[in-house]
Amino acid sequence: MTTARIKHILKDGQPGDELTIQGWVRTKRDSKGFSFLEVNDGSSMSGLQVVVDGQVPHYDDLMVRISTGASVEVAGRLVASPGKGQRVEMQAAQVTLYGESDAATYPLQKKRHSFEFLRTIGHLRSRTNTLGAVFRVRNACANAIHEFFQARDFLWMHTPILTASDCEGAGELFTVTSFNLDKLPKSEDGRVDFSQDFFCKPTYLTVSGQLEAEIMAMAFANVYTFGPTFRAENSNTSRHLAEFWMVEPEMAFCDLEGNMDLAEDFLKFIFRRVLEDCADDMEFFNQRIDNSVLATADNIINSEFERITYSDAIKLLEKADKKFEYPVSWGLDMQSEHERYLAEDYFKKPVIVTDYPTEIKAFYMRLSDDEKTVAAMDVLAPRIGEIIGGSQREERLAVLERRITEAGLPKEDYWWYLDLRRYGTVPHAGFGLGFERLVQFITGMANIRDVIPFPRTPDNVEF
Ligand code: 4AD
Ligand code: MG
Repeated sequence: MTTARIKHILKDGQPGDELTIQGWVRTKRDSKGFSFLEVNDGSSMSGLQVVVDGQVPHYDDLMVRISTGASVEVAGRLVASPGKGQRVEMQAAQVTLYGESDAATYPLQKKRHSFEFLRTIGHLRSRTNTLGAVFRVRNACANAIHEFFQARDFLWMHTPILTASDCEGAGELFTVTSFNLDKLPKSEDGRVDFSQDFFCKPTYLTVSGQLEAEIMAMAFANVYTFGPTFRAENSNTSRHLAEFWMVEPEMAFCDLEGNMDLAEDFLKFIFRRVLEDCADDMEFFNQRIDNSVLATADNIINSEFERITYSDAIKLLEKADKKFEYPVSWGLDMQSEHERYLAEDYFKKPVIVTDYPTEIKAFYMRLSDDEKTVAAMDVLAPRIGEIIGGSQREERLAVLERRITEAGLPKEDYWWYLDLRRYGTVPHAGFGLGFERLVQFITGMANIRDVIPFPRTPDNVEF
């Protein structure tokens, strides 16, 4: 007898197959002389219905001890299911109880729980239908991302988590130290003396792998990073995490146009893949979470993304018949309400906004001839707002030096970044996709805390 995953049984299992399954009991119903168990092993939304009759060894004892949440192994034979909802079910020959689950205290009951409540039981919530579906889709997205880039000869490069540079220059860094915080060494001017710290200089958790990805792109032409990034940004919203995953392709010999094309192809590919790989989960999101999920996916795959300059987008927003909470005018950063108006209300599809004012974007973006704007691009998605941020990079040494100085950043810290412009510089471009925002976008989940297994947000680092 072989141990099988339930998703394969539901799809391909035939009456007569003798199999063993392992999983957790979602529900138990007792009838006269037999019981039904629904066993779920996380491989699919649906569990397998198991019929345990009184002939099964230790039946009485097992049925007293098995309750929702218990872990079991069941060996048995598949039979055609007379009931509705499943093609096959299992007739148990032998049931092994691995771990009981105290019925009086197990927090997951058959009723619907709020996502707020589920966050307080982060160690158990993945056993619910919704979180199970979310994390299967999350996995499918990650897989699709690698598939997309590998098929295009991009090398996956692992960029460091510990870094001495602030890529975005926004000062949202978590400091990393091995100092005893009660006994911080101070230099004469009273400031902390980092020369005595582990790395002998101030060190942080990375906000982006871009700068290192640029290094690698200057050797391999096309690369991507995919890893955790950290921002000490105290924004308690449904779209911000302190620790989130980012996918960052970087391409040599590429301009903003090529960057936009890649971003659009990339999103379309992931949506297509997820619809194929997680059809049941996507159906579930459409029915239970947001009834526009499948239509949105269809729209992403089949529509051409709108492309518009920041200046034109501001004009649209100024003319909009919608009252915004925050003012909008040329030179101001767009708020999420503006981004959503453009993608959700106006164009009703993803919008790529380009050529943002120099002042509101990072130092590394390529300066336009009139110096008022930079070659930036943000992809705005309905419901989510900014899902991708990217740019063509400044490849001209003199301009980059000036931009670093103007941004008030210490030029010496960027010596290697500047060297890339000294030795074989090329036009290059890349972007960062917020992985959790992508999963939110695909699943329709309202809160970013519910699309990452263990969310880190202000005041929350449990589990
Ligand atoms: O726009 P951002 O800050 O761009 C960068 O970090 C560039 N270095 C990327 C690059 O060009 N290689 O961040 C990129 C994306 C955003 O569009 C957003 O989707 C996501 O990362 N993001 C966050 N996601 C969750 N929580 C946060 N606090 C996020 N901040 C950014
Ligand atoms: Mg951004």
